[in-house]
Amino acid sequence: GPLGSPNTLKEQREFLPAFAVREDLLRVIRDNQVVIVIGETGSGKTTQLTQFLYEDGYGKTGMIGCTQPRRVAAMSVAKRVAEEMEVKLGTLVGYAIRFEDCTSKETVIKYMTDGVLLRESLNEPDLDRYSCIIMDEAHERALNTDVLMGLFKKILQRRRDLKLIITSATMNSKRFSDFFGGAPEFTIPGRTFPVDILFHRSPVEDYVDQAVQQVLAIHVSKPAGDILVFMTGQEDIEVTCELIQERLAALNDPPKLSVLPIYSQMPADLQAKIFDRAPPGVRKCIVATNIAETSLTVDGIMYVVDCGYSKLKVYNPRMGMDTLQITPISQANAAQRAGRAGRTGPGQAYRLYTEKQFRDEMYMQTIPEIQRTNLSNTVLLLKSLGVKDLLDFDFMDPPPQDTITTSLYDLWALGALDNLGELTELGRKMNAFPMDPPLAKLLIMSEEYGCSEEMVTIVSMLSVPNVFYRPKERQEESDAAREKFFVPESDHLTYLHVYTQWKANGYSDAWCARHFLHSKSLRRAREVRDQLLDIMKMQHMRMVSCGTDWDIIRKCICSGYYHQAAKVKGIGEYINLRTSVTVQLHPTSALYGLGFLPDYVVYHELILTSKEYMSTVTAVDPHWLAELEPSAV
Ligand code: CDP
Ligand code: MG
Repeated sequence: GPLGSPNTLKEQREFLPAFAVREDLLRVIRDNQVVIVIGETGSGKTTQLTQFLYEDGYGKTGMIGCTQPRRVAAMSVAKRVAEEMEVKLGTLVGYAIRFEDCTSKETVIKYMTDGVLLRESLNEPDLDRYSCIIMDEAHERALNTDVLMGLFKKILQRRRDLKLIITSATMNSKRFSDFFGGAPEFTIPGRTFPVDILFHRSPVEDYVDQAVQQVLAIHVSKPAGDILVFMTGQEDIEVTCELIQERLAALNDPPKLSVLPIYSQMPADLQAKIFDRAPPGVRKCIVATNIAETSLTVDGIMYVVDCGYSKLKVYNPRMGMDTLQITPISQANAAQRAGRAGRTGPGQAYRLYTEKQFRDEMYMQTIPEIQRTNLSNTVLLLKSLGVKDLLDFDFMDPPPQDTITTSLYDLWALGALDNLGELTELGRKMNAFPMDPPLAKLLIMSEEYGCSEEMVTIVSMLSVPNVFYRPKERQEESDAAREKFFVPESDHLTYLHVYTQWKANGYSDAWCARHFLHSKSLRRAREVRDQLLDIMKMQHMRMVSCGTDWDIIRKCICSGYYHQAAKVKGIGEYINLRTSVTVQLHPTSALYGLGFLPDYVVYHELILTSKEYMSTVTAVDPHWLAELEPSAV
């Protein structure tokens, strides 16, 4: 290839910085139980370490696990490693993410989300099936990574034969070493090129618009080299891609540009496209979330456009829930983003914020997730792992006391904990389901209410990306199609109705297309449903149907969402019974089909935009609420 760049997969492997230090690295791992591996993004940590360990024989005594904070990364990396090893994905190399297990008896190298490994530890506290575990992307400090790290402290004492490798981009590695009693740090020497950092001169009003302008300016005036744009999420990524295409088309005979989005909810086949090389003479422009910061490396990037924001899960104490908020990134994120431009040659990073904003408005490091999110899930899990007092648990950075208290309260109110804070039978059962406690409770209660057949469908539909397709240019048509499915008392029942109709129509893709439904989401819902059915069977739960008596389902829904109940206040406006926060009915809700607004509703979640919208809403009878929690009404 040009400049002697590698072509075959084998050559590409041998060209990676990790390959040059393979022997030294394996020696340090042989001599130590815990090793921290530090290396620039793209040095081969994620794809090579597992293979090195396999080649060194670690696969003979157990599996080699590698955890990822993001599901997309787990899937795409497993696919790549299977290709490099020339095996079929799911055989020797596999992956497991929530509701999707692509492994088999043969699997030795297993990529998975940290959540999956955490759940495995429930059934197998010492993780006996593994001989080594790589905790990848530890610098991200994702919630489940942090919890696993605390668990590992104990596991490693009990299992002297287990190797733990923690990998981190070049930040904050000392913290991990200290946490594990001074574990050695092994640095993979990097191969990076200088990157020019270009701050914006004045604050940017509209980062999407500015990013589009910047991309076009680079494209028409700068030498060859691909562009990577950092946006916050699916919505602004889609708009950015559209605008780039639109404005490019308005130019007179513009050079060719291939615009590719990447975000976590995107189907796997489309995601894989970002790794394909563009044909000669075509520049590639990838528009990504922070997934491209460290977890996925795309080669050939010379220009980075950084909007300066990312979507971050933050606990909103006023709402009593987590919300995804668009938040300024940290200085560490900014450095990572810029670094993506210097992998193949000198590059340029365009920051859509001023130097002053960078200095004054950005934290040095992102606050670990454990300190900014709801911990109900985690608390429930730790309780069933036998952790009595959460304050005694060995956290790298402890969560705020307030958050623990709120989570304990929520779990108690759901009936998962008793007055002494001990796990109840219900709580134990809830833990079998890999989902938020309220959804798990819905499933368990549905057996008692006599509607488990229906509830498992509803919960599956709530666990996949929205099934309704609403393209901009055909909004009215798609709205009309959606309204045909409306069950006026309930968006939950509307989902049930959609699924039932889809099933009655032979699970047909063509039928979906005609009715403005995403067939991918529905098929995913079906897969999730099958998985949930398996779990319910293992829990010896009975599958019962309520037939057409849908009030039973609404009652059951009420039982899982007591904390998200609201009372009408004005036109389309409600007030949360517990927090007294004003919330709006989302304009797409089926409840608008009723002709009047029900006095009491429960909702699945809040969407924060210009207003606080309840999404997926069901009308309930206040008596049901009163029965469940007398103080609520
Ligand atoms: O984990 P780290 O950032 O150190 O690197 P990696 O993810 O192991 O990536 C090593 C190389 O594999 C990079 O050059 C990637 O571009 C390449 N890779 C790829 O081509 N396709 C994938 N799905 C994953 C990695
Ligand atoms: Mg990696």
